[in-house]
Amino acid sequence: MTTTTDARPLAFRPELRAAGTARAPYRAMLPLAELAPGSMRRVTVGDLDVLLVWTPDGIAAVDDRCPHMSAPLSIGSLEGCVVQCPLHEGRFDLCSGDPVQMPTTGGLDPDGRYHPTWSPAGLPPKTDPPGLKAEARRLTRVRRFRYYPVRIVEGSIEVALPTG
Ligand code: FES
Repeated sequence: MTTTTDARPLAFRPELRAAGTARAPYRAMLPLAELAPGSMRRVTVGDLDVLLVWTPDGIAAVDDRCPHMSAPLSIGSLEGCVVQCPLHEGRFDLCSGDPVQMPTTGGLDPDGRYHPTWSPAGLPPKTDPPGLKAEARRLTRVRRFRYYPVRIVEGSIEVALPTG
């Protein structure tokens, strides 16, 4: 069983570090006791909604905005490292930063490859009625997560957030 003594920051790929955090000061976000292993919480600082998540690989801090169309992931569901968005059922791996299931709307993955709209297994891809909205769905790119650096200090989760 994971306990608070096992708390550690999630190690993320350097290229996925959030912009503006290289020299950003750390600030206390939440007492560690208020985030259970395997859970997630939104913490708001100014106009920034941060999602704190205790994954099997450590505690991560990312924007509480889906990498697809910005829905709040904090009201989605978490299974291991994977969070499911409440809006279009996209599933995203918080431990790697990568999508594991594209949204039902389809669109572009982080590498720019197009994925069609979702269809039940065995059926041809659903056709999106042409128009500006279909074009917007087609051109919407799912990004990899960007991570805010985390540290645990005296029972408090601290996160480096960009200033200004
Ligand atoms: S907004 Fe999250 S999958 Fe679309």
